[in-house]
Amino acid sequence: MRYEDVMRLALERGFYAPSCEIYSDAPAGFWDYGPLGVALRNRFIDLWRRELIRRDDMIEIDGSQIMSKSVFVASGHLESFADPIVSCMKCRLTLRVDRLISEKTGKIIPERMAVEDYDRLLKEHDVRCPRCGGGLGGVSMFNMMFKVRVGAGGEDAYLRPETCQSIFVDFPRLFKVMRGKLPFPVAQFGKSFRNEISPRQSLIRLREFYQAEIEVFFNPKYAIDAQKFEEVRDYRLKLALGEGVEEVSCIDAVERGLIPNRLISYYLALIQQFYEKAGVDMGRFRVRRLGEEEKAFYAETAFDVEVETSLGWIELVACNYRTDYDLKGHSRVSKEDMEVMDGGEKIIPHVFELSMGVDRSIYCIMEHAYHREDGRDVLKLKPALAPIQVGVFPLVNRDELPRKAREIYNSLKKDFQAFYDESGSIGRRYRRQDEIGVPVCVTVDYDTLRDDTVTLRDRDSMKQIRIDIPKLASRLNDLYRGEDALQL
Ligand code: ATP
Ligand code: GLY
Repeated sequence: MRYEDVMRLALERGFYAPSCEIYSDAPAGFWDYGPLGVALRNRFIDLWRRELIRRDDMIEIDGSQIMSKSVFVASGHLESFADPIVSCMKCRLTLRVDRLISEKTGKIIPERMAVEDYDRLLKEHDVRCPRCGGGLGGVSMFNMMFKVRVGAGGEDAYLRPETCQSIFVDFPRLFKVMRGKLPFPVAQFGKSFRNEISPRQSLIRLREFYQAEIEVFFNPKYAIDAQKFEEVRDYRLKLALGEGVEEVSCIDAVERGLIPNRLISYYLALIQQFYEKAGVDMGRFRVRRLGEEEKAFYAETAFDVEVETSLGWIELVACNYRTDYDLKGHSRVSKEDMEVMDGGEKIIPHVFELSMGVDRSIYCIMEHAYHREDGRDVLKLKPALAPIQVGVFPLVNRDELPRKAREIYNSLKKDFQAFYDESGSIGRRYRRQDEIGVPVCVTVDYDTLRDDTVTLRDRDSMKQIRIDIPKLASRLNDLYRGEDALQL
């Protein structure tokens, strides 16, 4: 489906909507999740915890969103977290220069070029204001952090632009209290804030957004324990090479020099497997190594996990090898000792990160799952992500059927996110559940009153089976423990 179809679904069925939408001064780039959106996001994070945090024995923290100015002096964000901008001299519209030139030329323009080079490209391609056709001024750099004033004295502080800074500043305490050993992966799910110049496309480019980040601290001399790597050794990564995507096993990718070491190869495999389980279409998935000018200022090597949608390829995860850049920076500014013992020596660990955008991931999963077929709209979410797990209906709204259906609903909702509906035709009720991705529906009919069975209908195949009511909960448990839709 297209972006517009997903937007209609999101707005009409309560997945997400613009924040403060009743006011005309609502700033762009802020969106609210509705009931189904919150449930989908919670399940997405549950899956992330299962497939990454628990699978790899990581620990998780939750840091504050406002952080001291010193953090961003040390991290380099005060100096370097800036985008190139240009303003129209006629209508004053401000735009991201790299994207503006990309749109005009159809080529990827790096985000980190010298200001003079952007000025030259604007002139060379005669780029003008896309809104009014006016001439453009000179290019300048715009720092994207939100400054806040804390307390009555108004001390300068900042909303964190990436969640991982909390992990870096907490590292010495965490390593000590958790009796850490390298490699030491620390995860966090939380909000980040960036004053984006042109927020757009709903969840794709926000000013306030969720990240689920994993920072793996390790000794570069002994990058990964052999046993862990064995799990993924022959697993095939989808690497963007040349014009296409090549499937290369984790071991071959390291041996061919496409990936710097086994630790990075292992974590790229975990993240690819995660998206497979989250229902992203693997035919439209790739891991792309970034060129020198595309990388963030702190990264030595970087890979983007990208997914193709109706809007083009979208970056979902930035996988950055940050070396000892962050811990060294914080050690220099805070004077704290960031060294730890490993293999009989004191070292400042290196960091490899998986920085996942949660909102963008949710959009892409919804777009890939949304289908129009056989005269119905159906959101084929993996059962593990379904906001509502089971619909319960009486076939008709009379006699003893509603009472019996409510009884089943009340019992199922203790263990499952269930939804009860008795209004309208049964066909319409199924359609409404299909559209929001409910994997199965239970229907109570006249036979139920006689033999204590119900029909169980599968969202994707629309097949129905009869099942004894006492077996319902265990059948649903099997479904939600597994990864695929119920095969009836
Ligand atoms: P882009 O090039 O699209 O601006 P980025 O390279 O600046 O993204 P990173 O700094 O690498 O993004 O951030 C890590 C992840 O956080 C991204 O892969 C993305 O999923 C998410 N992310 C970053 N900025 C935004 C945003 N403005 N809105 C939503 N998600 C974002
Ligand atoms: N922590 C990496 C990023 O937000 O870009």
